[in-house]
Amino acid sequence: MKEQLNGIQASAEKELATAQSIQELENLRVKYLGKKGELTSVLRGMGALSAEERPVIGQLANEVRVFIESRLDKAVKDLAGKERTLKLKQEIIDITMPGKKANFGRRHPLTQVVDEIKEVFLGMGYQIAEGPEVELDYFNFEAMNIPKNHPSRDVQDTFYIDDNVVLRTHTSPVQARVMKSQNPPIRVICPGRVYRSDEVDATHSPVFHQVEGLVVDKGVTMGDLVGTLQVFAKVLFGENTKIRLRPHHFPFTEPSAEVDVSCWGCGGSGCRICKGEGWVEILGAGMVSPKVLRECGIDPNVYSGFAFGLGVERVAMARFNIDDMRLFTENDVRFLKQF
Ligand code: DAH
Repeated sequence: MKEQLNGIQASAEKELATAQSIQELENLRVKYLGKKGELTSVLRGMGALSAEERPVIGQLANEVRVFIESRLDKAVKDLAGKERTLKLKQEIIDITMPGKKANFGRRHPLTQVVDEIKEVFLGMGYQIAEGPEVELDYFNFEAMNIPKNHPSRDVQDTFYIDDNVVLRTHTSPVQARVMKSQNPPIRVICPGRVYRSDEVDATHSPVFHQVEGLVVDKGVTMGDLVGTLQVFAKVLFGENTKIRLRPHHFPFTEPSAEVDVSCWGCGGSGCRICKGEGWVEILGAGMVSPKVLRECGIDPNVYSGFAFGLGVERVAMARFNIDDMRLFTENDVRFLKQF
């Protein structure tokens, strides 16, 4: 029996030394130490031994079991280590390889222009006010001194939800909402989307964007309006830009003006951009009509104000030399990538 046990130990040692995988080692564990394993079957025969032999063989059997177990554990550890090293080698990352280039998006040219305008006015202490695009006829027209049947409703024909609710035709109704909810001094700009029932062409769209400005305080004058617009024009169109006011009519301002900037292409001598005029019209402005102030709960005998409104598409077309408004909404990346 002693030889049998020594034989088991020797062959287990040999087999363990050449095993190539964890699975093979597991099979060897079963083969030698399992319930039906070789060692167990030898131990089963121990009943036939004499009382002197039994403890001696018992001890030897135990030693053989411990030997095989410790060899098995070591072999498993070694193999696992080898497999891990191999895996690490196979999965090695070459950190010197050039990376994949991340494709950055960018802001839409209209967003860029609005952001720039916001920055100019935030810098002058203005706040940003917003209002609904689906607006009451009252705020869009009536509060802006455009009663029903007023002829200027024709040029701002829009989409009616019902008799009292429209898609706003300008951002001016935000003026009324601000004046009704805040006390002067008021200094806000109101950027936003507006609607008119216009046919689409190179310079018209039924959906476009405006930025409105409103200042109401004691002693505000036309001089403040001109100075403000001058600063704005220089930031957007360059340090040498001049502005020019031409008398005009808006129901909500009195007096009113259309405002031109000197052409950034030629500086005023006339070129293709300004169609030979030397000037490009960019916005409407004026002193807030006393009627509008009163309607919005502000006493025109104490306060005065100026307002202006500009078309974002128009400014962006001017700034980036774009000749067709439709490009803004077609979402052609070849176009959008250029700004
Ligand atoms: N609301 C005018 C429009 O859409 C633009 C405008 C002109 C706004 C003069 C103003 C302003 O606040 O004072 O055509």
